[in-house]
Amino acid sequence: MKLNLHDARTATSIGRWLGAAIVVCFVTGVISHYVQLPPDWLAGALPSRPSWGYRFTQGLHVASGIAAIPLLLAKLWTVYPRLFIWPPLRSVRHALERASVAVLVGAAIFQLFSGLLNTAQWYPWPFSFVPVHFAVAWLLLGALVLHLAVKYPEIKAHWGKRSPGTLELPVAEGPDRRSLLTGVAAAVGAVTLTTVGQSFTPLKRFDLLAPRHPDHGEQGLPVNRTAAAARVTDVSAADWRLTVLGKYSYELTLDELAAMPQHTVTLPIACVEGWSKSADWTGVRVRDLLERAGARPGSAVRVVSLERRGSYRVMEMGGGYTDDPLTLLALRLGGRTLSPDHGYPARIIAPNRPGVLQTKWVTRMEAM
Ligand code: HEM
Repeated sequence: MKLNLHDARTATSIGRWLGAAIVVCFVTGVISHYVQLPPDWLAGALPSRPSWGYRFTQGLHVASGIAAIPLLLAKLWTVYPRLFIWPPLRSVRHALERASVAVLVGAAIFQLFSGLLNTAQWYPWPFSFVPVHFAVAWLLLGALVLHLAVKYPEIKAHWGKRSPGTLELPVAEGPDRRSLLTGVAAAVGAVTLTTVGQSFTPLKRFDLLAPRHPDHGEQGLPVNRTAAAARVTDVSAADWRLTVLGKYSYELTLDELAAMPQHTVTLPIACVEGWSKSADWTGVRVRDLLERAGARPGSAVRVVSLERRGSYRVMEMGGGYTDDPLTLLALRLGGRTLSPDHGYPARIIAPNRPGVLQTKWVTRMEAM
């Protein structure tokens, strides 16, 4: 028998997966937000382990957001006849319900498409992406909870495999529900498989559609902000100094820094835009540099870059990171001197941290 696919049962089946993807996106997005912009009470408590934590949560954020796009399109196709029901407003309650659906649909479309464009570093809008994406995430979550409450009776009736008493209207033609759901699952599988390799590197050879490939970039690692974009192309080793401010402030030349005990760690650069890749970094432990300045163990640090402008020119890192032996002021990548685009002469590399906070072209560190 052919089925009407614009029904509550199909809306529930697709809604389940869409809801799960949106919730995963919300939770991982909130994590990313607070790791990047922690309030004071949280800054010192952010954990540096697991070292791959941010790589995992942000990879999942972008993957679930991309998977939600075909799910949202399928869901809207399933329910669109309901949007044209006449008369459009029957009562105050009905008007409120429709207003909440309008917010839900608008917020879902905005979040998924603005997020997707952000992964391609394309910002065709006049507002700042981060605060707006964060605010709309809450709006979307609120509208979704309301939607689930309003539709609860229908969702409950159609959740199980075979719901007794379900009214399925036969229609003249059209694929059946199983084919539709298989098609939607195939679309989700296809967009996931062709993009997830940007962070889940075992699948990197299928990474055909993601804006970044983890292997493409200088020294085998992608670069988001180049030295030219940051206007720090003319750093000379002879003139560069690292200033460390603390109880006993001091300055080091590049040779003096290179003469300090060096450590090699394997850590990922995990970009907020979803790509990530592990690499071997060699340099001086941040905690050794701070200890020499007389800072107590677990002190926070403010790190200043040679960049003249940019939101991430000055970065603060809490004690959880500075105390971790994996947190380095790195001088080498993959055994070779850092290239200018990777932050020559020195950059921060710390575990469980977004790429934008792995400050490049470091010139000053202030124990706090
Ligand atoms: C971002 C996520 C979602 C969006 C944008 C969305 C959108 C919509 C829209 C526009 C409608 C038609 C509204 C109306 O006129 O009544 C609808 C109906 C419905 N939605 Fe959702 N929805 C989402 C998530 C979910 C989830 C997670 C579930 C359940 C697991 C769900 C279950 C339903 C059901 C049962 C209906 C009624 C369908 C019918 O009566 O034919 N939705 N949804």
